[in-house]
Amino acid sequence: MKLFDVYPINNINITKGVGSLVYDGKGQEYLDLYGGHAVISIGHTNPHYVKRLEDQLHKIGFYSNSIEIPLQTELAEKLGHVSGKEDYQLFLCNSGAEANENALKLASFYNGRKKVIAFKGAFHGRTSLAVSATDNPKIIAPVNETDNIIFLPFNDEAALAQAFAENEISSVIIEGIQGVGGIRVASESFLKKIRSLCDAHNAVFIADSVQCGYGRSGKFFSHDFAGVDADIYSMAKGIGNGFPMGAIIISPKIKPVYYMLGTTFGGNHLACAAGLAVLEVMAQDNLIQNAAEVGGYLIDELKKFKQVSEVRGRGLMIGIELPAELADVKKNLLFKHHIFTGEAKPNVIRLLPALNLTKAYADRFLEAFAKEVN
Ligand SMILES: Cc1ncc(COP(=O)(O)O)c(C=O)c1O
Repeated sequence: MKLFDVYPINNINITKGVGSLVYDGKGQEYLDLYGGHAVISIGHTNPHYVKRLEDQLHKIGFYSNSIEIPLQTELAEKLGHVSGKEDYQLFLCNSGAEANENALKLASFYNGRKKVIAFKGAFHGRTSLAVSATDNPKIIAPVNETDNIIFLPFNDEAALAQAFAENEISSVIIEGIQGVGGIRVASESFLKKIRSLCDAHNAVFIADSVQCGYGRSGKFFSHDFAGVDADIYSMAKGIGNGFPMGAIIISPKIKPVYYMLGTTFGGNHLACAAGLAVLEVMAQDNLIQNAAEVGGYLIDELKKFKQVSEVRGRGLMIGIELPAELADVKKNLLFKHHIFTGEAKPNVIRLLPALNLTKAYADRFLEAFAKEVN
């Protein structure tokens, strides 16, 4: 059997990882500023994480959601504490798309409406409603086409107010920092406007925090910079440091009804052990503060390069927009300097490293970057 060939891939086989470093089968070391696509939050093979998963595996890895799983309650309490949303309710699932799917569905159950506002440049996942709310016609199959999604320009308050005036809106879904869209930060006043319009119309504010959340921006949720709360936050990627997990946290104003949401695998024992280990390491090692500091340093240094068109982002979610003549920088960073980075079209380098990236590794990157752009 062959693999279903859905991605162009690099001819590299990573067999080992430690912290912010990964190694291929020949022992070549790479600096990982991609974090396996923003997934590695506390570094590869963190000893506390490995031990917690290993210990749990020896006890029990999985049993169904038809029984009590105290690890879920422990995870909810810790997540409430670290995120500052202590009165929210946690629902666990398995991926970012699934988290958004559940968020959009829950919003519609809540207010009985159908229309969703999403934004140009948005990426919310590949399942039915999540992909419909994603601004990329190429990945929307005919069966996913719906007129329930209203796409608006990002950060356009007038367009938002007009859409609310003309439609019965169920929910607004927005990334605090668009990832696939090229690291574009939602303005604080725009997020505040979403909050006030949702309040005025009983619509649900969904903060897609799959990529920009979990401390990456230097705050737990990047939407927190606006000083307003969303009604539902969706999460995945960094929550399990590579263990497949997704989650939504839900404001107390939305009440659960039996069977409105459900899952076989979500919140299993092993996943909870992974999630708890991540939160424990984040708290103990002050990783959110580190993301703010090392990220701030990188952004300041990158802004000094006159060859760079624009540097965007917050904390350790950074986009470096390059002119067309510097189209090979990402490839050269990987194959000449052995540094993994992400990308966004047409020519944006995306940095999404582990939140415990050191300043020394940031400097290693800056030196290699200087050689490539100078
Ligand atoms: C903002 C955002 N939302 C949702 C998703 C979908 O997550 P998953 O691939 O885990 O389904 C992604 C994935 O890149 C994302 O960046």
